[in-house]
Amino acid sequence: MRAIAALAFALVAAPATAQDKPAVPAEKVEAAVKAAFPNPAPEWQARLHPDETMKACSAHDNAPPPALAEAIQARERAKIEYPADGQFMGDWRRGERLAQSGYGMRFTDYPPRNPNGGNCYACHQLTKQELSYGTIGPSLLGYGRIKEFSPEAVKAAYEKIANPHATLPCSLMPRFGSNKILTIEQVKDLVALLMDKDSPVNN
Ligand code: HEC
Repeated sequence: MRAIAALAFALVAAPATAQDKPAVPAEKVEAAVKAAFPNPAPEWQARLHPDETMKACSAHDNAPPPALAEAIQARERAKIEYPADGQFMGDWRRGERLAQSGYGMRFTDYPPRNPNGGNCYACHQLTKQELSYGTIGPSLLGYGRIKEFSPEAVKAAYEKIANPHATLPCSLMPRFGSNKILTIEQVKDLVALLMDKDSPVNN
């Protein structure tokens, strides 16, 4: 399933468009980003520079050759921090609030007044109740039920939210855990939203 998803994604991202028009040079992109944030907060400076993974994905139109793809996944997998108590599920109610919240890391959010949100609905359908959602990512409606609530799937959901590049080298999903957008406890609450039998995602 993952292999098929990764393949489909690679095909979509493969340079059909890159052949038609020349890629924008990396320096031009960097200059535009820099100009858009003339006075970034000190803690945000690093965010304006692509890391090794972002650079590799940009250089290959999100379709890195196999050896590089594997290197990216291995590096990102190594960045996943696991809960000390070995429990991957928190509270789905808190998870739903996090999924709804787009707070954090916008220029109006400095200095931070609240914990960051996950903004999952910006890209995913999650519950029947919420009708306003984006479609950049697949629908996650019924996710736990579809995965038969298996412990392996619970762990995989934690890893996906913590660092999506560990399973898809150039995922469009943010690395919520590894980039410290969300805490380990917050990631656990989101896992519960996806995988708890009582969560509205599964009902
Ligand atoms: C900017 C868009 C974006 C945001 C925000 C986002 N995702 Fe994703 N997500 C994606 C995309 C694209 C995929 C499919 C590619 C992949 O697997 O990496 C995906 C895949 C997933 C998957 C794997 C689905 C499968 O195929 O098994 C899970 C689970 C997931 N997202 C959960 C979340 C949660 C929880 C949040 C909020 C914390 C979130 N996502 C926020 C874009 C996003």
